[in-house]
Amino acid sequence: TTPIKVAPSILSADFSRLAEEILKLEQAGADWVHIDVMDGHFVPNLTFGAPVVAAIRPVTKLPFDVHLMVSNPQAFVDPFVKAGADIITVHAETAPHLHRLIQTIKEQGKKAGVSLNPATPLSLVEEVLSDIDMILIMSVNPGFGGQQFIPAAIDKIARLRAMLTTRSLTVDIEVDGGINAVTARKVTAAGANILVAGSAVYGAPDMAAAIKAIRGLD
Ligand code: DX5
Ligand code: ZN
Repeated sequence: TTPIKVAPSILSADFSRLAEEILKLEQAGADWVHIDVMDGHFVPNLTFGAPVVAAIRPVTKLPFDVHLMVSNPQAFVDPFVKAGADIITVHAETAPHLHRLIQTIKEQGKKAGVSLNPATPLSLVEEVLSDIDMILIMSVNPGFGGQQFIPAAIDKIARLRAMLTTRSLTVDIEVDGGINAVTARKVTAAGANILVAGSAVYGAPDMAAAIKAIRGLD
């Protein structure tokens, strides 16, 4: 089986000390750094642009997992690749030419992910399953950290894993929103293997213990 990875979201970090906050993740055993890019249009919040990602790139060797919550992702692939992203995930809801967008990401030598909001059906990614490295299932409505996990995500993940298995595809399933040690168990049992967690990592008294508990090795 695929090893479980934990990708803490710096959305819950102290933005005045971003470099230290990322270093802490590395020391606590995080696998990836999840970077939530919001445009105030596709989602009702604003966060970081490519210059911020470029500024924090030298801080760590951990892969940068960039989650683009923007209305026009095609305009941002190049800037985030140049800034040092390793995985670029776009929302299917924002991309009428999803196939072309995925190819653009892969042509740059980066891993391509596609994300689905809670109300978006799996059928939106069905035709591109063999083109992508990862599917990100949102278990909250994107825009803010610290929201409650939506349980319907569990069955959605199970159906997606079954679809991938039927087609003999080894695509990563990432889950984002309301992930803690308890919800992590449920989504990994359903077939997810990459766990994003913001508040459960940064809000924990012991970050290393929190990451371990989410990974399920405690
Ligand atoms: C939500 C973001 C998430 C968020 C998760 O729009 O995509 O990555 O930071 O935060 P928690 O883990 O606190 O739900
Ligand atoms: Zn995210």
